[in-house]
Amino acid sequence: MLIKKSLKNLMLVFLVIIYSCERDQPVFGENGMVVSTSSQASQVGIDIMKAGGNAIDATAAVGFALAVTSSSNGNIGGGGFMTVKLENGNSFTLDYREMAPKAASRNMYLDRDGNVIKGKSRYTHFAAGVPGSVDGLLKAWRDYGSGNISREQLLDPAINLAENGFKLSKYEAERFNKNKDRLSKHPETKKIFTRDDRKWKEGDLFVQKDLANTLKRISKNGRDGFYKGETADLIVKEMESVGGWINYNDLDNYVSKYRDPVKGSFMGYDILSMGPPSSGGLLVIHMLNMLEKVVEQKGSEFDLSYNSVDYIHTLTELERRAYADRTEHMGDSDFWNVPQSMFLSRDYAKNRLQDIDFNKATSSKSVDHGNPYASQSEETTHYSIVDKKGNAVSVTTTINAGYGNGITVTGAGFILNNEMDDFSSKPGEPNMFGLLGNEANAIEPMKRPLSSMTPTIVLKDDAPFLILGSPGGSTIITTVMQNILNVILHDMNIKDAVSSPRVHSQWLPDMIFHEKNGLKNSTVYKLKKMGHDIRMRSSIGEANGIMINEKGFWGGADSRGENTAIGY
Ligand code: DON
Repeated sequence: MLIKKSLKNLMLVFLVIIYSCERDQPVFGENGMVVSTSSQASQVGIDIMKAGGNAIDATAAVGFALAVTSSSNGNIGGGGFMTVKLENGNSFTLDYREMAPKAASRNMYLDRDGNVIKGKSRYTHFAAGVPGSVDGLLKAWRDYGSGNISREQLLDPAINLAENGFKLSKYEAERFNKNKDRLSKHPETKKIFTRDDRKWKEGDLFVQKDLANTLKRISKNGRDGFYKGETADLIVKEMESVGGWINYNDLDNYVSKYRDPVKGSFMGYDILSMGPPSSGGLLVIHMLNMLEKVVEQKGSEFDLSYNSVDYIHTLTELERRAYADRTEHMGDSDFWNVPQSMFLSRDYAKNRLQDIDFNKATSSKSVDHGNPYASQSEETTHYSIVDKKGNAVSVTTTINAGYGNGITVTGAGFILNNEMDDFSSKPGEPNMFGLLGNEANAIEPMKRPLSSMTPTIVLKDDAPFLILGSPGGSTIITTVMQNILNVILHDMNIKDAVSSPRVHSQWLPDMIFHEKNGLKNSTVYKLKKMGHDIRMRSSIGEANGIMINEKGFWGGADSRGENTAIGY
């Protein structure tokens, strides 16, 4: 009996090693899985679960670790969303999106002539919303953690990584080097993230003492270690250098909020995702509702195989309509009546299909958007976690652009977000992702800017089947949708589902973007013939997913960028 058990264990270890070594396969785990953009952070999540924590404990610990190891997007100076399905069947989402400070006003990024002041909503102190990550991560841990992991245990790994440093990977070193100009603009950022003339290289020890001290204050005092006391003093002082922007009241008033997940279904699978202030969940569900109708109506005459002409044309036409609705109808639902039932309605989805010509591109109204795609990188981050009891967590978190607004709070060691750019500075004026917005997403004090982040859980028979999400600004929504379709429609495993080439379109600019090797030449040719404008661009999204079946957990780390799945 004992021999049989040891043999079984040995086989399992062997299996895990094989899967972990095989880069193109999903990683297997029997007791838990973490997939994130940082190997150190993924390991922190696994260690927390091994120490008796559940997936929610691991989520909070991974969030703090990412703030240290993935400075471009991991954060305590930004915000995020969490979608959770608990082992007891309940589900919730947590919105810890940044809030506009009290001093915010509708036209704050416009000059006297009503023109947008270049860069003000992106690369200045005024670009930062009040950060929500610390409040959100601690709230989730407090309310849904196992009770086995103390706050100190949650923060210790992050403190250790910041205080004693960690060795930079080649990818992270190159990212610092690539962004050196941007990181040199603010003196505190320059001090921490650049090295005189010397270039960072793989294996360099990266130590962040100020950040370690901030994390220690959070460890000791919880939420108050960030929103009050010394950290608050440092944030307010930083803001005083521009005459004030975020003040003590703004920090004190910050609150993360539990919200009901938005729910839909596709071909027999149920979908849980993030509702407003994210546009992501509603748009994914709306587009899948449309696509399911197309499958029903055109299934036999249509070739809906992966990246076929019919498939890309159909997705593009659905996306065109969905993003047009986003522009008009979506904003923070605490401030604007977002027509959620319209987006979730199958009748509305059916109606929206009426004017699609399945042989010809519809034209989006022509607006000059510049070229928002030229230099965009995937600078938000998504992580997925599941524990042995089946608690499943999907988190997308961001400081918006890579390294946010580029401003480090002097003495506190963390970079601030530039999430204010996700508001509509002016109707008709695209944000950094080319997204437009109107009244629904206008700037108001205490409001949250509209997001595209789409942390999602797909259920099979009411149990988690897929945990998905991605960075990528406006492309997050179409990335998550394609990940779902890759598994459900195209039968891919999770590694292939997240790594396969993607396409993206969003109403305006009126264009299909595709990754290198994503579409055959003949497909591009035929789509052009149908009237589509098509352009190749840099990578689209960076998805870190988990698939769950009767055997266990399968981690799919996106081959783009530097992502790590660890199972145990
Ligand atoms: O919330 C949003 O939609 C954006 N702030 C996300 C930014 C992002 O994904 C950046 N990556 N390219």
